[in-house]
Amino acid sequence: MPHPLVELKEVSKTYAAGDALIHALRDVSFRAEQGEFITVSGPSGSGKSTFLHLMGAVDAPSSGEVFFDGREISRLSDEGLSEIRRKEVGFIHQFFHLMPTMTAYENVALPLVLQGQNRAGIKEMAENALARVGLANRMRSFPRQLSGGEMQRVAVARAVIHKPRLILADEPTGNLDTENSQNVLELISELHREDGFTIVMATHDQMPLRYATRRVGMVDGRLEGGC
Ligand SMILES: Nc1ncnc2c1ncn2[C@@H]1O[C@H](COP(=O)(O)OP(=O)(O)O)[C@@H](O)[C@H]1O
Ligand SMILES: [Mg+2]
Repeated sequence: MPHPLVELKEVSKTYAAGDALIHALRDVSFRAEQGEFITVSGPSGSGKSTFLHLMGAVDAPSSGEVFFDGREISRLSDEGLSEIRRKEVGFIHQFFHLMPTMTAYENVALPLVLQGQNRAGIKEMAENALARVGLANRMRSFPRQLSGGEMQRVAVARAVIHKPRLILADEPTGNLDTENSQNVLELISELHREDGFTIVMATHDQMPLRYATRRVGMVDGRLEGGC
């Protein structure tokens, strides 16, 4: 039996807030197979980001088990998690998270620089990735010189440049107008359809839903419609 790309087994995540415990995720079981495009919808504070962070090796669960490509990662050290995250995961955030002092080219190249790849290889891949998102002519621009839609396309190029196994998009259109939202969703959808990426996308609007191959919901830390 091939294993799922990501699997969560009875995962909970709690945060301490003063004397209180916040239950961000409650007993979540979930599987994402290779090639799926899954949307996670739910109100603000329902646990969507926490859910993405646990499957993307950003954070470890309080209880339960997380598997990435068949390997248990729930008890890894920060270094172990960060190695998986750097190699296997690409993130797209609501607020882009671009480095303000770096050009579009430098932002996109960063994951490869961190992997220690050689300069010539980096140049070709970064130029191709920027061309892929329609920004070949904006390589030397800094984030402040780009529109929101352009910044998010740079972030998409950065998320895929190292060919990660999993793309996690956390409300990628939450800070964009309707037209730019549409463009970014088309782009993410193309990455799924044409390039075969596995994608899990958190959202709290309805528009993205038609792009998904599967939809799950999150309410108060509980997953609805999971595996
Ligand atoms: N680092 C943290 N420390 C304390 N509480 C947190 C932390 N991260 C998230 N939370 C809390 O966990 C719950 C779920 O948050 P989150 O996963 O960000 O939800 P969503 O992405 O759906 O808005 C919220 O109550 C939030 O305040
Ligand atoms: Mg969130």
